[in-house]
Amino acid sequence: MERGRGRGKEAYVMKKQITSGTGAAISRVEGRLKVTGMAKYAAEFPVKNRVYAQGINSTVAKGKIVSIDTSEALAQPGVIKVITHENALDLQGHDKEMPAIGTSSPMAVLQSPEVHYYGQYIGLVVAETLEQAQYACRLIQVDYAQETAVTDFEAGRYKAYVPDEASDYTRGDVDSGLASADEQLEMTYITPIEHHHPMELHSAIASWTDGKVEVYASQQMVENSVTTIAKTFRIPESDVRVIAPFVGGGFGSKLQTERHVMLAIMAAKLIERPVQLTVTRTQMFTNTTLRQRNEQKFRIAARKDGTLTALVHETLSHTSTYEQYQEQCGTPTKMLYASPNARVTHRLMPLNLQTPFAMRAPGEATGSFALECAMDEMAWRLGMDPVDFRIANDTQTDPSNGKPFSSRLLTECLRIGADKFGWDQRPAKPNSREEGNWLVGYGVAGAARAAPYKTSSARVLLEVTGGEVYATVQTGATDIGTGTYTIVAQTAAEYLGIPVERITVELGDSDFPDSPGSGGSWGAASFANGTRAACLQAIEQLKQKAGITATDVSIERLLLDNELTRYTAEGTAEPTEEFEQHSVYSFGANFAEVWVDRDTGMFRIKRMVNVGSAGQILNPKTAYGQIIGGLTMGAGMAIAERTKVEPNFGNFITRSFADYHVPVNLDMAEIEVIFLPEEDKIANAMGVKGIGELGITSVAASIANAIFNATGKRFRELPITPETVI
Ligand code: MOS
Repeated sequence: MERGRGRGKEAYVMKKQITSGTGAAISRVEGRLKVTGMAKYAAEFPVKNRVYAQGINSTVAKGKIVSIDTSEALAQPGVIKVITHENALDLQGHDKEMPAIGTSSPMAVLQSPEVHYYGQYIGLVVAETLEQAQYACRLIQVDYAQETAVTDFEAGRYKAYVPDEASDYTRGDVDSGLASADEQLEMTYITPIEHHHPMELHSAIASWTDGKVEVYASQQMVENSVTTIAKTFRIPESDVRVIAPFVGGGFGSKLQTERHVMLAIMAAKLIERPVQLTVTRTQMFTNTTLRQRNEQKFRIAARKDGTLTALVHETLSHTSTYEQYQEQCGTPTKMLYASPNARVTHRLMPLNLQTPFAMRAPGEATGSFALECAMDEMAWRLGMDPVDFRIANDTQTDPSNGKPFSSRLLTECLRIGADKFGWDQRPAKPNSREEGNWLVGYGVAGAARAAPYKTSSARVLLEVTGGEVYATVQTGATDIGTGTYTIVAQTAAEYLGIPVERITVELGDSDFPDSPGSGGSWGAASFANGTRAACLQAIEQLKQKAGITATDVSIERLLLDNELTRYTAEGTAEPTEEFEQHSVYSFGANFAEVWVDRDTGMFRIKRMVNVGSAGQILNPKTAYGQIIGGLTMGAGMAIAERTKVEPNFGNFITRSFADYHVPVNLDMAEIEVIFLPEEDKIANAMGVKGIGELGITSVAASIANAIFNATGKRFRELPITPETVI
């Protein structure tokens, strides 16, 4: 303790060094609640007088409902109501045809007899119990006027169109860039339809009481959820409250407020009782979003010395027949390497499948597979080390817009990763190293993921109990399994100068101060800075009240001097002009060692080393969890995940975890994660940058590149499975 200046003869103590502040690898503050089952997820709130609903799904992929007979269902015990397009509430639809949808678009449902895809909601049964609702669903008789659906990528290709002006991007002169190259390559990379499948099912319990809507829902962004609901039901946002204190994963699928939430709210209004609706695991394939199939044509051109002269990246994807979503696969190609000439295009075609939407690192996860494999292919063509080739094209200026990067340690990530991994031991020739029956290969990929930062507010409530200060932080932020509770508590501990054990964090309520919620890797930076702002506000206000000018004063002292035992303050953090003038990204590199069985094609990811530079790491333990989660999902992209469409009926063949494969522990490598120390105060006051989506970016490419190194064969379609390798 040091002495500071203050009023009277008593000195003010310096802010204590808090060992549980930011940067400390403490365990999750809510961990105990989770492992003891005390943390309540959306479907677990004991809302009184509630009933249960079950969505009814279409069994055709395109057509019109001619008639629905609900009489037998309605006659069953416990059944309260069956809602179809014939008796649904009138809801707000989109304001135009094929709108580009976002996280606060209206989500009207049951508004017409039209069917756009297999599994679309065509009704809802509400009953006293879930079993009664599910049973009655099977008794609904539906007649369709069926039409020919297009669900196949090849069949839909001729309908490809330009989604909007932002779809195309060009810099320099691509033709002269190609002409001035010593080598050029053209490849096509394919990634399949994938599903998010967070562990917690999508779920909602909705009440509509005295004109006010209250919903417990598993959502990533509660404020946007309020907006979606208010728009859809044409009610003021002030009449809507969304509560999501715990969310069991989202990966992008809970960014939007999906139609099951609207169904639950509609039913609650119609029957005047709270309604619980859970989307089953099978329904999560059709009634939530997906990552669409992408076909990425890539041209890469370089001179002998390793200088890139042109990049051309053309992506063809699908959207639904009623809404538009475009994954920006070209994002990394625009900004990662200093090619003077580049062209990036995106095309969409409508298919009779639900509208795709963002899935972890939308654009980067898939786009980096193409770019980082193409970089690898070119490095081998040039006879250059793939690490050196990337470093040769590194840049401190964002080639896509000419802005300086706030900080960019790509070269450092590659060099340090190479060192930790033992890259110098890589087989210099593909298909040359053997370990018994195994072929051994090393692969690398660079990664970049935007580090967005959004306006975020928080409230801090201080309370003196037994002579000690306790604080509660409230913010509309969410914890989707990422560690928000912990980093918010650590931030408050640090800026209030009290131990983390005395901080309570309350999240996921739209009545709390506004926060952007969890998505796009902006969560940690936005929430932490919002929390910091609230703490600094509390201190500043208390100092002013007491007329104190000293810089380091304890919060106990401030409350005491003001003769207060309670105090509440709010604060908001927002991006600065400096932030807007820079390109702000997190960077990384992933190294993989893969062994391939020469007879069976079976392969094992043996080890991965991941290096990231993402500014200040708020908590190395939760950050490590984010990265290994990203690496596992990236490995899933590479070796397992694929949603298949049944060609005759247009439904998904993969409809459970028995057929939609994800990596399990045994599939995963020995993983080493390294965060480079980095200060980036341009990003935000605390210098925090996102990592949630950095971890998945480029992992699939590093594995594909390692398989090439092992076998000498290129695999440009994901997932890579033993039968394709052999
Ligand atoms: Mo993320 S795909 O913005 O949850």
